[in-house]
Amino acid sequence: MKVLVTGGAGFIGSNFIRYFLGAHPDAEIINLDKLTYAGNPDNLGALVSHVNYEFVLGDVCDTKLVEDLMQRDPDVVVHFAAESHVDRSIEDAQEFVRTNVQGTHTLVEAARRCRIERFVHISTDEVYGSLHLGESADEQSPLRPNSPYAASKAASDMIVRSYWMTYRFPAIITRCSNNYGPNQFPEKLVPLMICNALEGKTLPIFGDGLNERDWIYVEDHCRALDAVLYWGRPGEVYNIACENTVTNLEIVRHVLRIMGRPESLIEFVADRPGHDRRYALDTRRITADLGWSPSIGLEEGLGRTVNWYIQNPDWIRKARAGEYLKYYDKFYRQRERTLSDL
Ligand code: NAD
Ligand code: DAU
Repeated sequence: MKVLVTGGAGFIGSNFIRYFLGAHPDAEIINLDKLTYAGNPDNLGALVSHVNYEFVLGDVCDTKLVEDLMQRDPDVVVHFAAESHVDRSIEDAQEFVRTNVQGTHTLVEAARRCRIERFVHISTDEVYGSLHLGESADEQSPLRPNSPYAASKAASDMIVRSYWMTYRFPAIITRCSNNYGPNQFPEKLVPLMICNALEGKTLPIFGDGLNERDWIYVEDHCRALDAVLYWGRPGEVYNIACENTVTNLEIVRHVLRIMGRPESLIEFVADRPGHDRRYALDTRRITADLGWSPSIGLEEGLGRTVNWYIQNPDWIRKARAGEYLKYYDKFYRQRERTLSDL
């Protein structure tokens, strides 16, 4: 099987390529990635010289390049490429609209013209918005995105859906909950907390820390995508999660316990504007129809993740030396200023 992956140098995309080539040694992967601040060729390690792997540097909004890649006749497209960080979208949503909305449209249009047989669009649970305690979203639930990031993902879902409804374009949408694991850029909660704790820095928790997320180990997500790719029904949406929500405070305490670091490192900081209180998914469809269920619990997954970061100080150093530190300093200063003006 020949797979065109977009965004394969990022966190989930790189884990997916590693998983997929391991599970299907005959598969061929073409990875189209723009290498933004979040894309890192190091994430693929030795795979960069794998005979069945090819990297293409480029933008999913580049119509000509995307059309050329579709001409190479992939059996399936797995579309991860996106701007993915909520806080960045709050500061400036322009790239989110461009990559997430326009980029998705460029891909589906080129894939439709080339009669690609399967297109897997990687979306997120954030499109359902914040849910009350006891509620969970199934695939028919209304989309109520609250951040510019979530809105751009919801818009891309709607474009993909319209291509199925209008052209019977064989797309499948997946909506997964919060991933954690190796190679996640240390701007997201889990890796940021691990990296800060390793350096003895404080661990910033937004607001009261009682917002809930449903954490899934990235390898479980990759296994779910493998099942969707082979057995998913075109036109369908599949939720993916562990159905086990925990508060941010709980997860951070958990990380500190595993690392043997004190809770006094926790620092409560100003809340994220429009911060969604709770995400929760109903995953009965993927379980019943595709036989998938998660296999790695939080304790084991967090343990593996902490170990990976401890064993990869060079990776952290390079990521930390990048743009995101400058971004965070600016971001926190701006947020504090806004709050003091209120
Ligand atoms: P990431 O930010 O780690 O990686 C994104 C990748 O896309 C990077 O390699 C980047 O270089 C590439 N990219 C960005 N803009 C591009 C462009 N215009 N053209 C080509 N490549 C471009 O993101 P991630 O956390 O791995 O998320 C991957 C996908 O999964 C996203 O679509 C995201 O919305 C979705 N998702 C993420 C999570 C999560 O918890 N991280 C959960 C559910 C869904
Ligand atoms: O739910 C899936 C989504 O998960 C994906 O679609 C997004 O791409 C991914 O970034 C993630 O979004 P979140 O906003 O949920 O993840 P993040 O790691 O940024 O934050 C998780 C929670 O932790 C959230 O409630 C905000 C909080 N937080 C985050 C950071 C970075 C803090 O309290 N402190 C922090 O420093």
